[in-house]
Amino acid sequence: MKISVFGSGGWGTAVAKLLFENGHDVILWSKFEKEVETLNTLRENPLLKGVIIPSGIKITTNADEATDRINFAVIATPSFAVAETAALIKNKLPRDCIVVCVSKGIEKDTSLRFSVILRETLGDRVKLASLSGPTHAEEVGRQIPTACVVASEDIAIAEQVQDVFMNDYLRVYTSTDVIGVELGAALKNIIALGAGISDGLGFGDNTIAMLMTRGLAEMAELCVALGGKKQTLAGLAGLGDLIVTCTSQHSRNRRAGVLIGKGVEVQEAMRQVGAVVEGYYAAKAAHELSHKVGIDMPICEEAYKVLYEGKSALSALKDLMSRSKRQEWDSGEENWVG
Ligand SMILES: NC(=O)c1ccc[n+]([C@@H]2O[C@H](COP(=O)([O-])OP(=O)(O)OC[C@H]3O[C@@H](n4cnc5c(N)ncnc54)[C@H](O)[C@@H]3O)[C@@H](O)[C@H]2O)c1
Repeated sequence: MKISVFGSGGWGTAVAKLLFENGHDVILWSKFEKEVETLNTLRENPLLKGVIIPSGIKITTNADEATDRINFAVIATPSFAVAETAALIKNKLPRDCIVVCVSKGIEKDTSLRFSVILRETLGDRVKLASLSGPTHAEEVGRQIPTACVVASEDIAIAEQVQDVFMNDYLRVYTSTDVIGVELGAALKNIIALGAGISDGLGFGDNTIAMLMTRGLAEMAELCVALGGKKQTLAGLAGLGDLIVTCTSQHSRNRRAGVLIGKGVEVQEAMRQVGAVVEGYYAAKAAHELSHKVGIDMPICEEAYKVLYEGKSALSALKDLMSRSKRQEWDSGEENWVG
């Protein structure tokens, strides 16, 4: 297959390497000449130290070359650049090309999921899929085993993506719940910021477990309210990714949270992390979406107040602990209650 990966950050680089190792003809596209120069010279991404980019992967800023007769386009930019990148390639993609979005987030200006943005921008000429799961680039780049899920409204498309991505270090499961997979991918980053904040404040493992478990409950509630399936949130794109993002040394969201918990100002914390902190944008989207559909998302809401309204991290944790008493499940014992 001829495949181009759009976005040459840590994840785009790891995905390009994986697809090349799977035997495909791969181009890695970057918006920036300087970045292409660096990647071509070092054959290593400074955001993914120690992972060699095979010489067979062509790296370019030329979008015409990167869209020429491709079978697959992989969108791997940070969330703030997904719409812009889609607009750049919309008239260049071959008809029936499969566009796989591996970015995780919600569009910051509109709170729309990426598949909605991609369909609006690219039209019906292309086929869409979204891939997510516990896949830190630092580990996938080193062929450390993990699994992910690819969702498409058409299961046949998801199966084609599964065939192209799956190998002996990445198991790929399929799903038709695009909403669940995309929301799981975006929302877990907010909980990871919260877990980091808790660590930065000096709280313990119990606190992290509480934030993860109750965070998953509110993620699932929003997902169902927006048309996704609860069980998707119990899978790789929900619980799986939540565990890794809240606990891993590689998680930028967690690292940003730790700094904020220690008292570093929010913008400065993100600057120090030095790569995209998607939970920052997702917190604003979750705030807007949950208010729109009338869902209570206490952890995401407190994260929003810390990130956007200057609330102190300690007051946010205290306010979470002193919420009114609840039962853990609704009266039918079927649904988590936020
Ligand atoms: N890093 C991971 O382990 C990982 C794993 C799975 C999913 N993701 C998701 O993939 C997406 C990209 O993550 P990343 O880790 O590669 O981010 P990153 O911070 O490493 O990406 C930085 C890169 O984004 C590109 N970029 C910046 N502005 C751009 C623009 N306006 N247009 C096009 N490209 C632009 C540049 O090439 C830059 O080097 C995010 O949504 C992230 O949540 C990341």
